[in-house]
Amino acid sequence: MKVAILSGGGDAPGINAVIRAVVRKAIQEYDYETVGVRDGWRGLIEGEFIPLDLKTTSGMLPRGGSILGTSRTNPFKHEGGPQRILQQVEKQAIDAVVVIGGDDTQGVAYKLSEMGLPSVGVPKTIDNDLAGTDYTFGFHTAVSIACEALDRLHTTAEAHHRVIILEVMGRKTGWIALWAGLAGGADIILIPEIPFDVGEVCGYIEQRQRRGRNFSLVVAAEGAKPKGGTEIVYSTGVDEFGHAKLGGVGYYLGKEIEKKCQNIETRVVVLGHLQRGGSPVAFDRVLAIRFGIAAIDLVHEGKFGRMVVLKGNVITSIPLKEVVGRRKTVNLKLYKIARVFFG
Ligand code: F6P
Repeated sequence: MKVAILSGGGDAPGINAVIRAVVRKAIQEYDYETVGVRDGWRGLIEGEFIPLDLKTTSGMLPRGGSILGTSRTNPFKHEGGPQRILQQVEKQAIDAVVVIGGDDTQGVAYKLSEMGLPSVGVPKTIDNDLAGTDYTFGFHTAVSIACEALDRLHTTAEAHHRVIILEVMGRKTGWIALWAGLAGGADIILIPEIPFDVGEVCGYIEQRQRRGRNFSLVVAAEGAKPKGGTEIVYSTGVDEFGHAKLGGVGYYLGKEIEKKCQNIETRVVVLGHLQRGGSPVAFDRVLAIRFGIAAIDLVHEGKFGRMVVLKGNVITSIPLKEVVGRRKTVNLKLYKIARVFFG
């Protein structure tokens, strides 16, 4: 049996830990051959592979990024893309593909599996918005980086009596903002799921001032939008999955707060790709390993068209059909808890 592995979409800390786990069990326990696909679906269209064995995957548990590379290539936006993938799989005698990715990548895996590609999905995204799994790997690492940023911003905001806005990733959901904001003691958390009102934000800042707290920390997910408004985009144009490049809500807020609140000085920090780079935290490493092992076990059992998931503390799997076209938005009960600490 020959198993190919690919990673698609934005990278997330833990991809290499998944690859290592798949390869280790595939070779050691099942006596399979493993091969890596370069840059996600692009490599499968173009037929670009790299050898993967125990030696090439050793020592990469803590390594960030993806040794395979990744891309946001959507085969369905390329002339003959899906057919070329199926031809490559046949030509290379690949029996199964382990697909590490978020909603876009798993959406493609689902469509291709309907066309006959034997695939198994592994849920990956720092945004934690993939349906069907309690957590995706990469999320806890992003949260801990954002939390550390908040701890650091706290002391400088307090010393200078400023309002500091930390913009974090989270295109459609505010998981990182909510978790980091809760853990880092943010005074206001703005998420895409609940459009914000700048007047209300100023209200919280002034409430703190009345309590003698003349500084505030605001965490805003990049996809947070003002009531009645739209997301703030960094540049025009969309990728092959129709996503705009978001960014700028922090600066928008900073300016609006200075306009609307009396005598407030703001500063803005955009955390950006620092949240995605570098080593995964221990939780993400363990989750990535468990996902990788479960994925190769699914391949061994011939259970294709499924994605491994974490439910409570149990790793199981669900049909890819149940993942696509859905999004896991934040737990509003948790947001309600966070609100207790606003202002
Ligand atoms: O999908 C994960 C994510 O990190 C989003 O939060 C963010 O909007 C996007 O990727 C940015 O990705 P890139 O800059 O790589 O296009």
